[in-house]
Amino acid sequence: MAASIVKRVSRVKKLNVSHISARYKLLTGFRHFSTSKQWNKALVLGVYENESTDSIDFTGTARKFDEKADGKISQLLLTVKKPLKCGKTRTLHAVDPEFSSVLVTCIGKRGEGYDELETVDKGRESIRAAVAKAVLQLRELGENEIEVDSCGDTEASAEGCHLALFSYDDLKAEKSRKPTVRISCATRYSQDKNSMEKEWRKGAILAEGQNLSRRLMEMPANLLTPTKFAEIIKEQLADKCEVLVRDKDWAESMKMGSFLSVARGSVEPPVFLEIEYKGRQSDSPLALVGKGVTFDTGGISIKPSQGMDAMRGDMGGAACVAGSLLSVSKLQLPVHVKAFIPLCENMPSGSATKPGDVVTAMNGKTIQVDNTDAEGRLILADALCYSEQFNPSLILDMATLTGAIDVALGAGAAGVFTNSENMWNKLQKASVRSGDRVWRMPLFNHYTKKITECQLADLNNIGGSRSGGACTAAAFLKEFVNNKNWLHLDIAGVMSNNGDVAYLGKGMSGRPTRTVIEFINLMSKETNN
Ligand code: BES
Ligand code: ZN
Ligand code: ZN
Repeated sequence: MAASIVKRVSRVKKLNVSHISARYKLLTGFRHFSTSKQWNKALVLGVYENESTDSIDFTGTARKFDEKADGKISQLLLTVKKPLKCGKTRTLHAVDPEFSSVLVTCIGKRGEGYDELETVDKGRESIRAAVAKAVLQLRELGENEIEVDSCGDTEASAEGCHLALFSYDDLKAEKSRKPTVRISCATRYSQDKNSMEKEWRKGAILAEGQNLSRRLMEMPANLLTPTKFAEIIKEQLADKCEVLVRDKDWAESMKMGSFLSVARGSVEPPVFLEIEYKGRQSDSPLALVGKGVTFDTGGISIKPSQGMDAMRGDMGGAACVAGSLLSVSKLQLPVHVKAFIPLCENMPSGSATKPGDVVTAMNGKTIQVDNTDAEGRLILADALCYSEQFNPSLILDMATLTGAIDVALGAGAAGVFTNSENMWNKLQKASVRSGDRVWRMPLFNHYTKKITECQLADLNNIGGSRSGGACTAAAFLKEFVNNKNWLHLDIAGVMSNNGDVAYLGKGMSGRPTRTVIEFINLMSKETNN
């Protein structure tokens, strides 16, 4: 017993940051494959839900494979009387000499599309979920080279596979890690292979962005400090973006008293990241802002210890900004984006901010910090003020800001607070495509009053009561924005996945990265970004 403990401790000790960084490097993006490895090939085919017990409603690709196998696939499927239902699978062996397994997955009813009540494209969501289940089952069987049916929506199929196969096991021993799987699109029967490959690549890149967000959110806070976050972002983005890493002195010179009041309780120095992607020339970039609290203890207003480990994901906004930028730059979207990420820890200590302290933000507004656990709004206040200096055409911020948004919406949708009907419509349209939903919330003066009623300063950092907590937090942020196209996404409720999204494993979700990428894609089609 004692010996095993000693062994364990020495192993943990060995996991110093540079060692982890090397592993991390290897595991980000697409993995590298050695040529000597033995590949076990498998195929995923889609079928539509169909009541008939004597015919199979194959996708175009699946029908061709059935023909190639002399109808064996349909024969085998019809040997059992119960037709496949949406989300169910059948695995067949020895039907095609090229593949050791052929997995048939049901993608729901033919022709399913936008569902108004669900505000989602059901057809695309079913494809994502169906292929996700398929590739995971095949991985369990030891298959490691999988060709996947585009299922009539190549991009959704690629997203489903690449999101499902993600797992954060960088810190585990080799034998405990999920095996590497190579996936590709079954294009051989396509009329236009090139455009199919292009769509597949787009889906894979969208998933890659979200997977970067997930990995950053999942990383433990002792490894992912503000400094380390900046280092990883440089590694990931520096070839496509300009990455400026600002230090505490810079933040002081910018008079970011609100941001610095959160960082002051920690021994980890704060960092302010400024990233620029210039896919086109313009003097009104699209601004992204992300909350980057690498760990939120609550500070002096300390949180209960149960479940506090989840607060390593309190840089989810920052992670989603980084993930979005990765995809936007890989897709080479013709758009000018500037991103602003304040990074720090929220810790209790002798130097920490105390309840009742008053701090001054970059725009000169004074803030009475009655609750040091409402720190996200404090760091965003300065980041939003700073972003305004670049004449942005819009400002979109993302933050794991309040437990109250989780109470309101759960993991069903990210809460969106915006002063622009037009921006709301665009974001919602993007979310219908991505399947990663948003829901609009109010920015009434009613909530502003709750935070402007303040004994010592211009603003209080809490609303006085628990009621409408997500709305008072948004009202607070509104005090630091003049832009007419502002969107604030409270993503605390969608921070982690507990089985709600079928194609995301359990753990940090990286939501709503793909919605934001789609939104930027939509905006890139407008003239002024
Ligand atoms: N980081 C938390 C919000 C959060 C909660 C994120 C659950 C993810 C999951 C935030 O900094 C916080 O603590 N907010 C307080 C605000 C309150 C003190 C007004 C909250 O929601 O309780
Ligand atoms: Zn907090
Ligand atoms: Zn927080």
